[in-house]
Amino acid sequence: MRSRDKQRGAKEGVSLGVVLLLVLANLLFTEASIAAGSGAALLASGCTGCHGYDGLSAGPATPNIAHMNAGTFVQRMKDFKSGNRVATIMGRLAKGYSDDELAVLGEYFSKRQLGHVVQPLDVALANKGRALAQKYCASCHINDGKVDDGGPGILAGQWLTYLCYTIEDYQSGLVHVPKKMREGLDAIKNEAGKEGITSVLHFYASQE
Ligand code: HEC
Ligand code: HEC
Repeated sequence: MRSRDKQRGAKEGVSLGVVLLLVLANLLFTEASIAAGSGAALLASGCTGCHGYDGLSAGPATPNIAHMNAGTFVQRMKDFKSGNRVATIMGRLAKGYSDDELAVLGEYFSKRQLGHVVQPLDVALANKGRALAQKYCASCHINDGKVDDGGPGILAGQWLTYLCYTIEDYQSGLVHVPKKMREGLDAIKNEAGKEGITSVLHFYASQE
């Protein structure tokens, strides 16, 4: 761009028209690079205040979104947008992004490393939760919740507070969950009471 500028400047003299053309070319270039993914970080900077630079969030009620399957990500963002998914903040926020931008963001966050947040957890309770999780949850939340295959999201290393909130939303019927998950939660309650559910959530939150 710069050497072309010089050549042109030498041939024609730097007219206002040339400068305007260059400004326009620059704008087009920026748009193109966002589409190509190199501007993804710029787009994601609207999210990092809450979800952290690498998708690991700062607050216990704000979920980590690192390593989420891109398809799950886009679906949840579209559901926030349409009001199909309960939200305190994301409903309004998601409306600011086009489908193309959501696809770019989905790619970006799916490529962030799986991580875990530092939080106080009860290790004994987490150990107790392991067996229950394997029995009732592992068929969908595979690899101890580290893999998002088929839309369940990432549970490993997630904020415990956030996990507890989502379970409450599911149990109050605010968010649709698969029948088998509902049955699993009920079975855990029957087998180990409310503490059983808490122990499973401690288990997933402790995975790294
Ligand atoms: C002001 C804080 C804030 C900002 C900024 C923010 N989020 Fe969120 N995000 C939240 C909270 C809180 C939730 C939990 C749902 C809710 O209550 O809105 C959430 C939930 C999500 C979820 C669902 C995660 C899951 O496991 O279901 C995704 C995906 C998400 N945000 C993506 C984004 C993206 C992409 C951006 C930037 C465009 C963004 N968020 C900006 C606070 C924020
Ligand atoms: C039949 C498959 C299936 C089983 C079994 C299952 N889940 Fe899920 N789980 C899902 C799906 C799909 C979602 C995403 C639902 C949504 O859109 O919020 C989910 C979401 C979740 C979430 C919220 C994740 C997030 O990112 O917001 C938690 C927490 C959770 N499950 C816990 C459990 C526990 C604990 C068990 C065991 C009792 C369990 N699940 C069993 C399929 C399953």
